[in-house]
Amino acid sequence: MEVKSRYVTIKHHINGAPKQSDFEVQTVTLSLSLDPGSNDVLVKNLYVSIDPYQLNRMKDYSASQMASKYALAVLPGQAINSYGVGRVVASANPSYIKDDLIVGLIGWEEYTLVRGEDAIMIRKLDTTEFPLSYHVSTLGLSGLTAYGGFFNVCKPKKGETVFVSAASGSVGNIVGQYAKLLGCYVVGCAGTKQKVDLLTDKLGFDAAFNYKETTDLKSTVKRYFPDGIDMYFDNVGGEMLEAAVENMNMFGRVAVCGVISEYTDAKRRAGPNMLDVVYKRITIQGFLAADYMNDFLDFISKTSDHIRNGRMHVIEDISHSLESIPLAFEGLFAGDNIGKKIVQIADI
Ligand SMILES: NC(=O)c1ccc[n+]([C@@H]2O[C@H](COP(=O)([O-])OP(=O)(O)OC[C@H]3O[C@@H](n4cnc5c(N)ncnc54)[C@H](OP(=O)(O)O)[C@@H]3O)[C@@H](O)[C@H]2O)c1
Repeated sequence: MEVKSRYVTIKHHINGAPKQSDFEVQTVTLSLSLDPGSNDVLVKNLYVSIDPYQLNRMKDYSASQMASKYALAVLPGQAINSYGVGRVVASANPSYIKDDLIVGLIGWEEYTLVRGEDAIMIRKLDTTEFPLSYHVSTLGLSGLTAYGGFFNVCKPKKGETVFVSAASGSVGNIVGQYAKLLGCYVVGCAGTKQKVDLLTDKLGFDAAFNYKETTDLKSTVKRYFPDGIDMYFDNVGGEMLEAAVENMNMFGRVAVCGVISEYTDAKRRAGPNMLDVVYKRITIQGFLAADYMNDFLDFISKTSDHIRNGRMHVIEDISHSLESIPLAFEGLFAGDNIGKKIVQIADI
């Protein structure tokens, strides 16, 4: 018995902003009979994560391709792995049986053959307490990124001030919610009025602004932080990082999660004033979600509790069908998504 699996791939390397026309759908045939002893698992993919970092994998070259095995280069024609939730359809792995739900590294494809040696990249989903998509968004790697970066890199204390960029996005909205729960003063920036309203009206941010409506970012940021910024959670880089550093307090911390404004333009680079960094003793630290895998259980337990008790909102933006993946991905760089961008490929 076999299944045909359609998958999304790139037609060629992408070095600027991605367009739908850069992608195509190809088909592969997979056998349902797996080699006994191989530990392989065949998964039918239900929900997959759409993430900005994938663009760096699609370039001719990016430093990220060397730095992490999760971000290796993608070649034209190759399947593209991504985080997601699926259902086991065949298993030669004693840890899984048919119809088990799993979460972990699957792909932008209808079925993923998880090889035995890669089976550590998936785990069984034993709970049906929350919608499955939550395990791709707030209870998935976006949540872990926010949790690891905010608590370990920013090292927040109650009452401190926090600035978050791309604040209505997947990681940003969660950072802001953790910061409010801790008792910080939180300001976010985002690219539309609808996003700004979401931050203040639903997520409890103290203030938010539309960065596309300001001509002078440094003075805008100053207006929202008259007493300075203690922590900046950076999702965008570029001029936003420069404006944040100029407004940081003594011993401020910058958690560099990502620099999306620089992903589509190789010439664009932040040039923060390094005198500020020296004299204000600012710490600027990059990090990867993978650095905080040891915190995963703690993160899941605390975050589930916040969601269960209505203290945290889960903000998702779900499209449907494998074919919608290129548009969903393109939209990340145009600011189309509100919250975690996910594509549902199939019903359970
Ligand atoms: N370090 C890690 O392990 C890790 C893990 C996950 C994500 N990340 C990084 O975290 C950042 C956010 O990722 P995410 O998954 O949460 O994505 P996201 O925020 O859900 O989606 C991307 C958002 O970025 C904003 N954006 C796009 N182009 C921009 C530009 N030129 N300038 C300013 N904002 C821009 C858009 O919102 P607006 O409408 O507000 O512009 C867009 O909706 C990215 O840099 C990503 O690479 C890092």
